Amino acid sequence: MRLNASLAVLGALSLPIASADSTTNGPDENGLYWIHSEGLSAAFITYGASISRLLVNDQYGIKRDIVAGFDNASYYGIDGQHPHLGGVPGRYANRIQNSTFQIDGASFSVDPNENPTEAAPKGANTLHGGHDGWDYRNFTVVSHTNDSITFSIVDPDGKEGFPGEVVSYITYTVRDHTWDFKMVALATTKKTPIMLSSHAYWNLDGFANNDTNTVLNHTLYLPYSGQRVGVDNILIPTGDILANKKGSVNDFWSAPKQIGASLNDPEAEGNCGLDCIGYDNCWLVTRENPYNWRDEGNYIARLHSPWSGIQLDIYSDQEAFQVYSCHGQNGTLTLKETQGLNDNPDFPRTIPKYGCLVLEVEDWIDGINHPEWGRADKQIFGPGGDPYVLQASYVFSINTTASS
Ligand SMILES: *[C@@H]1O[C@H](CO)[C@@H](O)[C@H](O)[C@H]1NC(C)=O
Ligand SMILES: *[C@@H]1O[C@H](CO)[C@@H](O)[C@H](O)[C@H]1NC(C)=O
Ligand SMILES: *[C@@H]1O[C@H](CO)[C@@H](O)[C@H](O)[C@H]1NC(C)=O
Ligand SMILES: *[C@@H]1O[C@H](CO)[C@@H](O)[C@H](O)[C@H]1NC(C)=O
Ligand SMILES: *[C@@H]1O[C@H](CO)[C@@H](O)[C@H](O)[C@H]1NC(C)=O
Ligand SMILES: *[C@@H]1O[C@H](CO)[C@@H](O)[C@H](O)[C@H]1NC(C)=O
Ligand SMILES: *[C@@H]1O[C@H](CO)[C@@H](O)[C@H](O)[C@H]1NC(C)=O
Ligand SMILES: *[C@@H]1O[C@H](CO)[C@@H](O)[C@H](O)[C@H]1NC(C)=O
Repeated sequence: MRLNASLAVLGALSLPIASADSTTNGPDENGLYWIHSEGLSAAFITYGASISRLLVNDQYGIKRDIVAGFDNASYYGIDGQHPHLGGVPGRYANRIQNSTFQIDGASFSVDPNENPTEAAPKGANTLHGGHDGWDYRNFTVVSHTNDSITFSIVDPDGKEGFPGEVVSYITYTVRDHTWDFKMVALATTKKTPIMLSSHAYWNLDGFANNDTNTVLNHTLYLPYSGQRVGVDNILIPTGDILANKKGSVNDFWSAPKQIGASLNDPEAEGNCGLDCIGYDNCWLVTRENPYNWRDEGNYIARLHSPWSGIQLDIYSDQEAFQVYSCHGQNGTLTLKETQGLNDNPDFPRTIPKYGCLVLEVEDWIDGINHPEWGRADKQIFGPGGDPYVLQASYVFSINTTASS
């Protein structure tokens, strides 16, 4: 463990790490660590440093819990589906083609865990860091105050096949109506790929909409995303960067659009892999340099539900944005006690197909296998070099516009 040395490094970077004795509140009886601000309450668990609750008022002043999860921390590791609910995928988020990559001419093989074939029975690729990626492990709580929590993890050399030790700190803070997070990771011994994200499943109605239990009527706007990463049948990047033509299925840049608006378009077929209708795509976020990602109004994504009126504006220093439309959900994942409708046969207390959206700020997916994209500075880290840093602000407001 290099925690002390790394904490000194973090101190030098002046990160918002409070002293260890500021652990003021322990977890509640469900293993949840709560933080609060005037407009938000959020709860986190050590498993995957995951967000487990996010409570915000809707346009009628009713509190809604707008992220999917389980009622208690102990169940996250038990549920067999493990859809990466609210956690930090790591050490390398999204997919790695053929579970291999090269650094300085040396080849590395990492744990394959998706798309098994006869030739590759464990999987044709690696998703979210392997079978025992970061969001299958319990992080350590470094500090916990009323409005902030910091988790840490030490990922050993060789774990899941990745070279070198990585030490990471994940800090979540709430203020007013904003959830901020900062993820820092240090490669302490060898050069290694690092790409993190937050994998929260959103339903801005708290799964309590009595007209529809899907998010197809949520409106999404990606003002900087005229391009996306081209992928094959199993969602592995081909290397092509594609234009999202105005009016096409993947156009969310020219104007805000409902998630369901283009799904009857023939082009939507196969958009998220073989026989898949929906979104599981990586949009590039292309801003004119220089830019300040925190500047008011410069959100990279805006999601709005006309039913609750809740609007989420996402600000980030990251240059890609993945959206997954929960087409893989089929009513087997249960809602939490804080969500959904009771005694309404039309709306069982489970998450249906298209019942949620995963929104992931990150870098260009599988950039480690596409040197031609020039992402090495953002994805390969080594001892003595800059740390990996991801920052984002999720700003909540009420927008009473009806759907367009
Ligand atoms: C935790 O939550 C799961 C899923 O909701 C439930 O089955 C289980 O009984 C709960 N366990 C405890 C200890 O509350
Ligand atoms: C993680 O912590 C939970 C309690 O929050 C516990 O039930 C579980 O066994 C732990 N899992 C691992 C892999 O240590
Ligand atoms: C896939 O990876 C293996 C090593 O794990 C390597 O032998 C093989 O050439 C790779 N295939 C492709 C198409 O890159
Ligand atoms: C923490 O936040 C809660 C909710 O806003 C508030 O009730 C409580 O007084 C706060 N505690 C401290 C120590 O500030
Ligand atoms: C549906 O939800 C809205 C908003 O909370 C509420 O005003 C309305 O009464 C509900 N309708 C029914 C039929 O429950
Ligand atoms: C969803 O939005 C469409 C407009 O695109 C509207 O016609 C429909 O009534 C809305 N449905 C619900 C359940 O809100
Ligand atoms: C629903 O999805 C889960 C998780 O992917 C899967 O295990 C289950 O077999 C599916 N059930 C049906 C009826 O498709
Ligand atoms: C409210 O949401 C609609 C889309 O649902 C969007 O067109 C509009 O710009 C938003 N208004 C504000 C003030 O954020």
